[in-house]
Amino acid sequence: MNPTSIPDEFAEAFAQARPRLGPLAARVLWYDEITSTNDRALAWAESGAEEGCLVLADAQTSGRGRLGRAWASPAGAGIYASTVLRPPAHAVGLLTMAAGLAVSEGIASATGLDAYVKWPNDVCMPGRPPRKLAGILAEAGSTGGRVLHVVVGIGINVLPGAYPPAVAARATSLEAELGRAVQRSTVLAECLAALWRRYSMLGAGEAGAVLADWRRRAASTFGRRVEWDTPAGSRTGIARDVDASGALVVATDSGLVRLTAGEVRWTE
Ligand code: BTN
Repeated sequence: MNPTSIPDEFAEAFAQARPRLGPLAARVLWYDEITSTNDRALAWAESGAEEGCLVLADAQTSGRGRLGRAWASPAGAGIYASTVLRPPAHAVGLLTMAAGLAVSEGIASATGLDAYVKWPNDVCMPGRPPRKLAGILAEAGSTGGRVLHVVVGIGINVLPGAYPPAVAARATSLEAELGRAVQRSTVLAECLAALWRRYSMLGAGEAGAVLADWRRRAASTFGRRVEWDTPAGSRTGIARDVDASGALVVATDSGLVRLTAGEVRWTE
């Protein structure tokens, strides 16, 4: 499918937020339907797209999530956005956590919802179990060990129809939380403005400040028992903190364990 012109609502929201967006959304491809905005942004990056180029879709037919999962993407029910970044090497490690933080901040600024981040980069609403509102899929292109570009894919549930009924106990949407209609364009513009701010901080060597704010947004997740899978079976421990590299530090019966990838489930 070919791109069509960007809906006025998005063009206006980006124009209004322009002073806070840096190069983000300076060029936008809009698709009524696409396989995956990440696939399109990766291909665009490989053919030379500059930093900030943005791919947006109303629907995705093969939306992808982390850990090889599918990301349901029905028309008009969510925000499906992927932006090309060309980070300096020192900004790569914490980029996905910074993106999760930025999306939680953008949602808070556009809607007032106090979403929190769950390691490594889910955005959730409080509850037991936590209900996921948004997720980030960051994918890099590199050569000889050097990262050339990172595509940051952002998926936000706007309507309850954004996710399959099978995951309804563990998912939520902006409109379900707020009980009112939400403008996707305003939410996305605020998320991108927050992303540009956090990304700029990483570039400026302010990773410590980004992590400190990430910790604040994740505060309710520390001190809770988590479970994760290993090749030898599942393990549990108490989530304590994240370290300077973004690894989750978990206290187990056999000492502190650093989790650097994957995900954890909350068990209480
Ligand atoms: C997750 O598993 O939490 C990450 C979900 C990321 C979904 C977004 S939607 C826009 C972009 N395109 C994709 O195919 N995936 C990401």
